[in-house]
Amino acid sequence: MIGRLNHVAIAVPDLDAAAAQYRGALGAEVGPPHDEPDHGVTVIFIELPNTKIELLYPLGADSPIRGFLEKNPSGGIHHVCYEVADIVAARDRLLAEGARVLGGGEPKIGAHGKPVLFLHPKDFNGCLIELEEV
Ligand code: CO
Repeated sequence: MIGRLNHVAIAVPDLDAAAAQYRGALGAEVGPPHDEPDHGVTVIFIELPNTKIELLYPLGADSPIRGFLEKNPSGGIHHVCYEVADIVAARDRLLAEGARVLGGGEPKIGAHGKPVLFLHPKDFNGCLIELEEV
């Protein structure tokens, strides 16, 4: 059911420093910061030949990234995003398999303007999974 790895999201304690490091030391194509108020994050997209990296930084007091950075002060992998062809069919299959879908189970529009869902990390080996319909 899942297809390509769409992106790996990394929470960072200093967005400017992380962007400079990916641009400089790692020599990557680093985009400008985007505020995503609906998701409580400022995001920088990094295009790699086979996938994307998203650097996440908290935006607003209720940002879901804030608690993550308190537990992981030097940053860390926050989630991975897999592509699916039909997000509602994917959700129904996962619910039937006993997996928990976060936020009530209705797809939301994600950072790329496409429908997304998040799956509970405790059901997936401690890894927060985002599904994006492409
Ligand atoms: Co994501």
